[in-house]
Amino acid sequence: MSSARKKITVVGAGQVGTTVAQLAAYANLGDIVLIDIVPGFPQGKALDLQESGCLQAFDSLITGTNDYADTANSDIVVITAGLPRKPGMSREDLLATNAKIVKTVTEQIMKYSRNPIIIVVSNPLDAMVYMAKKVSGLGKDRVFGMAGVLDAARLRTFVALELGCSQIDVDAMVLGGHGDSMVPMPRYTTASGIPITELMDKATIERLVDRTRKGGAEIVQLLKNGSAFMAPGASVVKMIEAILHDKQRILPCTVYLEGEYGWSGIFFGVPVKIGIHGIEKVIELRLTEEEQKALDASAEEVKKTIKEVDALLGKS
Ligand code: NAI
Ligand code: 2OP
Repeated sequence: MSSARKKITVVGAGQVGTTVAQLAAYANLGDIVLIDIVPGFPQGKALDLQESGCLQAFDSLITGTNDYADTANSDIVVITAGLPRKPGMSREDLLATNAKIVKTVTEQIMKYSRNPIIIVVSNPLDAMVYMAKKVSGLGKDRVFGMAGVLDAARLRTFVALELGCSQIDVDAMVLGGHGDSMVPMPRYTTASGIPITELMDKATIERLVDRTRKGGAEIVQLLKNGSAFMAPGASVVKMIEAILHDKQRILPCTVYLEGEYGWSGIFFGVPVKIGIHGIEKVIELRLTEEEQKALDASAEEVKKTIKEVDALLGKS
């Protein structure tokens, strides 16, 4: 019997993958398949999560597997497979290893699901989404990456801590690549609608912007073994919720550009409208000269990593 419930596959049963599965189950978003290459690992995590259903009041079925046949007909696939960063390692250091993993994973997914929406999380994010798009052949509305929701959540947190106000009242926008060159946007960062440029001096804003850019590395330095997973997992689930509930939310996501913001052929973090069909619209903001310059610098960085993916694809 086929189920009317949505099917969410999470590839990689590590820190981020498990958090996504857990939060998606808690929110009753659908049945979940957790897949990993390590035998027993996803099965153990899935069973543990399933056993929390009666306590957390969810009835999603959670399947742990090493077999892609179990991912058949997925509505949404979240790719978290790959290595996380170690202290001193940049996201780009991960490129060659994770590119091979994301390529294999995408090939396997497409064998069993005809038209899924793929959300990539693996780093270096902008290059890994590009790999997933090239290999899957899916349209740009159906393959995109999670970064901006997380980076904006970090900025929102730092602003709220600085102002001593509720995090819920703070909203933020972060554009660009998911690397040190990302472009947090103070003009579009508000506390209950008030731009933070009205609430803080320039030096404070610059400090928070800098902390946001280095937000991933700050956690890596503290953990010493692995990278952030709770805020990343929550960010992915916000995106899944927006899709499956057709919320038409405006969120920063890493999407394929075709001329927007002056760039083409790269995946880049920009505000989009996201709903049941995936990316429904790219929203173009009018930028100051300084903002556009920062965005261009970030795009140049992303372009380098995308060229590396093209070179790897050329070899295979
Ligand atoms: P983790 O090491 O805890 O989990 C990764 C999992 O992938 C492991 O269980 C591993 O066995 C599995 N895996 C490796 N090769 C695989 C394959 N071929 N098929 C299926 N599974 C495979 O790492 P964590 O912390 O979950 O991070 C995952 C990735 O997400 C990393 O690349 C990390 O840098 C990235 N990340 C990206 C963020 C973003 O904002 N885009 C935020 C946080 C993490
Ligand atoms: C982060 O920003 C590692 O990309 C990951 O936490």
